[in-house]
Amino acid sequence: EIAFYNDKFVGIDDKVVPIQERAHQFGDGIYEVVRVYGGKVFLLEEHLERFRKSADAIDLTFPFSLEKMKEIILEGLSRSEMEEAEIYFQLTRGISPRQHHYPGVPAVFSMTVRNARPLGDKNKGAAAIVLEDERWLNCYIKSLNLLPNIMAKQKAVSKNCGEAIFARDGIVTEGSSSNVFAVKDGVIYTHPATKRILHGITRAKVFELAAQEHIPMKEEEFDVAFLKNADEAFFTSTGVEVMPIHTIDDTKMPEEKPISNKLAEAYENLYKLK
Ligand code: PDD
Repeated sequence: EIAFYNDKFVGIDDKVVPIQERAHQFGDGIYEVVRVYGGKVFLLEEHLERFRKSADAIDLTFPFSLEKMKEIILEGLSRSEMEEAEIYFQLTRGISPRQHHYPGVPAVFSMTVRNARPLGDKNKGAAAIVLEDERWLNCYIKSLNLLPNIMAKQKAVSKNCGEAIFARDGIVTEGSSSNVFAVKDGVIYTHPATKRILHGITRAKVFELAAQEHIPMKEEEFDVAFLKNADEAFFTSTGVEVMPIHTIDDTKMPEEKPISNKLAEAYENLYKLK
């Protein structure tokens, strides 16, 4: 395991973040999480592109080129000598005495290369609870401010569930750290890629895979009752890939989940066959 902070590689447990770093005091920054399979970073270009969009959305200027960032990420992976890993990288508004408005100092890039979290058992699936989506209205930005997300996840975990599903005014938006899908009569439904959800990289891949498998997919709003009455439900993220949901609150989902299984397998093949 290894880390990078600002301008140099450091040990994963080194104490390097200055007390007046804006991520530390305001959560003022953005991040990405990518998976490494077999020594290769999966979908790195897509994640870097979203990173750039998040930076633009919060008026953050890159301290160096995206190309250089990519070099640092790849060098970190190489130094870590890891084959299976999770890389976290973030960009913050820099180091400056605490004041709310932008300080006009260089942004700070940092990264960790760590062991990948174990994949959950996709055959078993995961349980989920539904909670009110209390987040702000710019959820498409991969912001460091994750307080509503971590509190929702904690509530789920305390009920032995793997994920909390957010609903805003009754409409299912996404999970606390995933995108959410419902399958009804052979059609896959998921919330449109508006500002109310993160435009998941895994979500976009699932679109492609569904098209290849000739499974129709609709970006359409649906409510909590629709999700609970669906034939199948699943969520996606870099960490869990495609994960079927077996229970939502007190509702047990059907045992048979052919479309979720097909997509989960197709997604695994994307990196296994490389
Ligand atoms: N979370 N929605 C939210 C709110 C997320 O935090 C994530 C990912 C996703 C799925 O995005 P992607 O398919 O690009 O990973 C959707 C990351 C993995 C995290 O915070 O650890």
